[in-house]
Amino acid sequence: MELTKGNVAVVTGAASGIGLGLADRFAAAGCNVVLADVDAGGLSTAAAQLASGHGIETLEVVCDVSKESSVQALASRARDRFGAVQVVCNNAGVQSSADHWTGPLSAWNWVMGVNFWGVVHGVRAFLPAMIEQGGGYIVNTASIAGLLPGFSASYDASKHAVVAITEDLYRTSQQSGWNVGVSVLCPGWVRTGIMDSGRNWPSELGEQPEGVPGSEVVAKYVRRAVAEGTTPAAVADLVFDALKADRFWVFPHPDFVELAVSRWQDIAEGLNPVLFREVPGLPPLEELVKEMLEGL
Ligand SMILES: NC(=O)c1ccc[n+]([C@@H]2O[C@H](COP(=O)([O-])OP(=O)(O)OC[C@H]3O[C@@H](n4cnc5c(N)ncnc54)[C@H](O)[C@@H]3O)[C@@H](O)[C@H]2O)c1
Repeated sequence: MELTKGNVAVVTGAASGIGLGLADRFAAAGCNVVLADVDAGGLSTAAAQLASGHGIETLEVVCDVSKESSVQALASRARDRFGAVQVVCNNAGVQSSADHWTGPLSAWNWVMGVNFWGVVHGVRAFLPAMIEQGGGYIVNTASIAGLLPGFSASYDASKHAVVAITEDLYRTSQQSGWNVGVSVLCPGWVRTGIMDSGRNWPSELGEQPEGVPGSEVVAKYVRRAVAEGTTPAAVADLVFDALKADRFWVFPHPDFVELAVSRWQDIAEGLNPVLFREVPGLPPLEELVKEMLEGL
């Protein structure tokens, strides 16, 4: 897709991390940017930073992507302010280590609500106008966990779903001649606030449950891997290049893709799931599990 100065990009989860990186990248290309997030304070800081840094116009919208009405309101606000929207990045996401198999469902509902329903709501809110205006571009943020389970059950499930529906959207758009380009972003570790997702736990789901036993050991190492991960700016550059080239897959971490391929080789051979797979950035998983068991 060709972008021109004054085009409009909407980014959810824009107050922090990858979303802020994406918003900055589109602003640097001369786009006006609509920043959406539940974090009102973070939004204002981000919007001011982008407007002064790039001389573009911004609109901040406090929006909870897990709620259809909130995302529809975001689309209306964007249309009222700027008219047409050319790019939508459905990026907001959370993770929880409290998705117990035997405990409360609230963490599952939260993760699926933001990561999966947030993407469904975002596509449904903006796609009809894009079709009507003759084109646009949608980027959905999944994760390498959308191709390789092993992070946490609810996160893996939400991200597999995002990969699947985004592939469906790509195919439907191509077959229908909508001229709406589609990409799915599947990163490994990126230096963001994702490990502190609990800061956005919604009070309407009750008290935030404790992590599953041993999860703090995993969290410790994942936190380190995230802190040493790729910068959001580098990830945003890859997304921007994919959009310009109409490339569906955005893989910032080829080493993780190799792992996903090896999982598929195992699947094709009918092998049972590997218990301990080497994961880039983490200690050998046998050691990690041993440390978890010692702490129980
Ligand atoms: N950081 C990583 O290593 C990594 C890897 C793969 C995928 N991802 C994905 O990248 C996306 C962005 O996360 P990040 O890593 O930048 O984390 P982050 O915590 O820095 O940013 C997430 C943003 O989403 C916002 N948010 C949370 N709940 C929301 C809701 N209900 N509605 C609207 N906004 C909400 C937060 O306030 C925050 O600004 C997520 O979908 C995440 O799953 C991250």
